[in-house]
Formats: sequence, C-alpha cells, structure tokens
Amino acid sequence: STSMITVHTVTALREQVRAAKASGRKIGFVPTMGNLHRGHISLIDAARDRGCFVVASIFVNPLQFNDPADLERYPRTLEADRQQLVDARCDLLFAPNVVEMYPQGQTLHTSVQVPGVSAGLCGGSRPGHFDGVATVVAKLFNMVQPDLAFFGEKDFQQVAVIRKMINDLNMPVALVPVPTARADDGLALSSRNGYLSDAERQAAPALYRTLTRIAQGLQAGEALPTLLANADDELQQYGFTKDYIEIRHADTLAELDTTELTKTARIVILAAALLGKARLIDNILVSLN
Ligand code: PAJ
Repeated sequence: STSMITVHTVTALREQVRAAKASGRKIGFVPTMGNLHRGHISLIDAARDRGCFVVASIFVNPLQFNDPADLERYPRTLEADRQQLVDARCDLLFAPNVVEMYPQGQTLHTSVQVPGVSAGLCGGSRPGHFDGVATVVAKLFNMVQPDLAFFGEKDFQQVAVIRKMINDLNMPVALVPVPTARADDGLALSSRNGYLSDAERQAAPALYRTLTRIAQGLQAGEALPTLLANADDELQQYGFTKDYIEIRHADTLAELDTTELTKTARIVILAAALLGKARLIDNILVSLN
C-alpha cells in the first residue's frame, strides 16, 4: 500500500488525527528518531495489532542530546524510513523540523522534569537527557493526542520516565511497553549499532550475554558481587568500557537491597557500555520467585 500520509506540520497532523478519530479509530502512537530498524517496526506492528490508526513520528530531538557531536552524527534516513513505515502499514507519519517543534528556540521553552526515575543509570551519564525526552514526548502527546503510545523496553529507563510522567500529569494515554527486538546473536537492535566496526559488531553480543549470565546466576542463588565482578571482566575482555551495570526494581527503577534480592519479585538488570564509537545499552528482566 502507498496510502501512508506524511505531514510535517502540527496543523496538518491535527487534521489527519481528527479525521481518524471521527471515523471511530483509536490512535496508536509510535514516537521515534528515525533510522528505523526491526525494533521500531515491532512497535508499529504492536499498534496495528491492536487495531489502531497508527501514527509514527520521526524527529531527532536536539533537547535530549547532551553531546553536540552525537546529535550531529545521528543518522537521518527519512526516505528509507518512510518506505519501511509504508511496508509496515503505518497510517500517518509526522516528521516535523526543529522550528516546527521549537519555534521559540530550544532554550526558552517549558520543560518537563521527571525526578527520581530520571536520576542515575543513563540519566547519571547523560545530564538533562531525560528532561529532553520527557519534554518532547509531552509535546508529541499533545500534538498527536493518542489513545495508546508504544515504547520499547530496550530503553527501559525511558519507559519508566514516561510512565511516571503520564501518571504524575494525568495524561490520558495508555503506555504500552514492547519487548526488545534482537539480532540472532542476541544484540539489541539499535540505530547506534551502525557505528560499530565489523570486529566490534562481532564482540557486541557480549553485553547481552553478560546480562543473561548475571540473571541465571541470581536465579541459581550465586552471590551478586562475584557475578558483577565476572561481568566486568567479560565486558573488558570484549573491548567494552563499562558505564554501569545495576540491579533495580523493575516497576519503579528504585534501588534495592541486594542482600534481600529473593524477596523482590520483579527485578531488572541494566547496563550501558562503550564499544568503539557506540554507547550501547541493554537490560534483562528477572523474576526470582
Ligand atoms: P528511538 O531511539 O528512535 O526509539 C524509538 C522507539 O523505538 C523507543 O520506544 C525505543 O525504545 C524503541 N526501540 C529502539 N530499539 C528497539 C529494539 N531493539 N526493540 C524494541 N524497541 C526498540 O527513544 C527514542 O527514539 C526517543 O527518545 C523518543 C522516545 C522518540 C523521544 O525523542
């Protein structure tokens, strides 16, 4: 089908969404920064599977890049993205430019901060990142006014931040987390994988393997400090520079008492590590009882 409509302005977006709602459709929204891969498309599929009128957005949001070089080199592949969305039977693509999103410039705008869940982990290494994410997602929600919004669990902390923002600000949107799409060797799909050399791409699955080992070790009752030390060694062997590996409550991301792990039903192990020019993140959910 070639029936997907692309709009670049909020006015045109609202017109299309209004028409879809008037015909009784629920709006399912998938915000992205483009350079789409199978992980993004799994979110489109999830929205379509629920019978939604599917709206995707592509906007490389300057507010959430704490490193200007990272923003500069972020891949922009709109034509290829558009084709993938057509193939996935997305209904509407919203692809605004920076002026449409931030007509006042990027500094003099209202900002959304989500305390607690934004601190530490990726928020610790990327100051201001989750303020930028929360702000742009709040704006996109107000523009699209979706019934459901789909987010990937690959960005686990992002899901927690958006969940808290929706709850704290009473946004009338149902959050739908979608499991991480992986390559056959386990590597979580990511736009940043494109920065890896062939050799680094070969080494990259060690990140998820390491998380899997910790999870299995915990389930087998092994001691956490040993598991974490082994994980550090393994990551180093494969050429990673670790940013963090942490264990948290899965629902709130609250820190937990690691001496009483078995009393916590749902935990998540999260990791971030540099490999060459890429900063890779991943996580694994574990239930210990
Ligand atoms: P982006 O990195 O483009 O990701 C868009 C959505 O795709 C996010 O919800 C992300 O978690 C999901 N995603 C990415 N890789 C995935 C994978 N391997 N499996 C499943 N889902 C995956 O996340 C952002 O953009 C931005 O922060 C955004 C929310 C659009 C705000 O600017």
